[in-house]
Amino acid sequence: MSLATRRVPRTSMHGWGASGGLLFKVLPLNLPYPVRTGVPERINMKILVTGGAGYIGSHTVLELLNAGHEVVVMDNLSNSSETSLQRVAELAGRAPEFHNVDLLDLAGMKELFVSTQPDAVIHFAGLKAVGESAEKPLWYYQTNVAGTLNLIYAMEEANCRSIVFSSSATVYGEPESMPLVEKLNMDAQSCYGRTKEHIEDMLVDLAASDDRWNIALLRYFNPVGAHESGRIGEDPSGIPNNLVPFIAQVAVGRREHLNVFGNDYPTVDGTGVRDYIHVVDLADGHLKAVDYITEHGGLHTWNLGTGNGYSVLEVLHAFEKACGKELPYKIVARRPGDVAVSYADPSSALADLGWSASRDIDTMVRDHWNWQKNNPNGYEEQ
Ligand code: NAD
Ligand code: UFG
Repeated sequence: MSLATRRVPRTSMHGWGASGGLLFKVLPLNLPYPVRTGVPERINMKILVTGGAGYIGSHTVLELLNAGHEVVVMDNLSNSSETSLQRVAELAGRAPEFHNVDLLDLAGMKELFVSTQPDAVIHFAGLKAVGESAEKPLWYYQTNVAGTLNLIYAMEEANCRSIVFSSSATVYGEPESMPLVEKLNMDAQSCYGRTKEHIEDMLVDLAASDDRWNIALLRYFNPVGAHESGRIGEDPSGIPNNLVPFIAQVAVGRREHLNVFGNDYPTVDGTGVRDYIHVVDLADGHLKAVDYITEHGGLHTWNLGTGNGYSVLEVLHAFEKACGKELPYKIVARRPGDVAVSYADPSSALADLGWSASRDIDTMVRDHWNWQKNNPNGYEEQ
């Protein structure tokens, strides 16, 4: 049974009628307020967000709440703080329900589904550091792959079969051609990337075995930026692995200079080129994807990127413009495993979901800087 059908009895109690998977507001015509006729309203769902206290998760939770969904967050807070959710609640004017549960606790996961009965899941929880994954591969396979398996078992038992999964452009590995299109073979070059491949494969097999599953595999390019309020943002623990959080910490005085990993790539200025995407655009892609799969069913793979590439030095200079000062950098050796260029062909997401990124690189770094300068130590007390 599709999710939309399953949801109708509950929503219709509140005066909503179903039509072809969309719901139309049904109101008596003599009411003293305007009646919208023939305008489809979105189906408000109860969505479980795993890893919802983290960077991309917290921005997505905010957008889900703003869109009228009911949100349950599960997170073990191993790489995040509950403060992010308190701030999301301030911004949204209502709070998500929070459960501190570990993906590896199968009994806890099952209990969570029994007690919350979500309609769909957005699955962010997991480990994401490429270097660390080479040092602790079993921990990565355990958390990412076995953790996702636990989640699927818990979903299956609770009859919840809609999932949006956080995959990554890293699954493309050494690109055969550019821009990257979804149909390219996966060939991840790191243990982290291979955990994403394994999870994608697992979900593809699951969808093939049972057509009640509705699945979106979202391959993110390089998420950066923060909510425009500056209240939530990326708060990496330790030395940031990624470019923009590192630059932001240089700008705020926490790091002396940026190390630019190589200037001898075949690119505009010799430095690596990536497809940076504003985290709020990315969050919006999740809302579109969850709506789409619950309405259309099946398994779908979408790139979420802008389609534009920027070099390390171009990003650095954009950040300098945003923060109004020069930022010191040194050219150092290439980082092993890095590719020269990576950017998306985002046309499938546009065609299927009507989604495209709307925020440009200047907006991304402006918002990232706004978050960092207002929260120099992230969510820690100042
Ligand atoms: P994040 O670390 O900020 O968020 C992940 C969240 O998962 C954290 O809040 C953490 O506490 C939680 N978590 C980790 N292990 C858990 C466990 N065992 N049980 C319950 N919760 C657990 O990371 P993010 O940047 O928001 O990334 C979210 C997802 O997107 C990840 O799956 C990541 O691999 C993927 N992704 C991220 C990027 C990126 O550059 N940020 C790029 C591509 C894909
Ligand atoms: N870079 C530097 N100095 C730094 C950090 C990065 O020069 O201190 C350069 C890199 O060499 C690369 C570019 O900046 O050319 C971007 O590097 P990031 O580490 O920010 O991003 P990656 O493209 O290497 O990888 C990121 C995530 C992966 C994810 C991938 C695709 O770390 O988990 O984007 O989404 F899979």
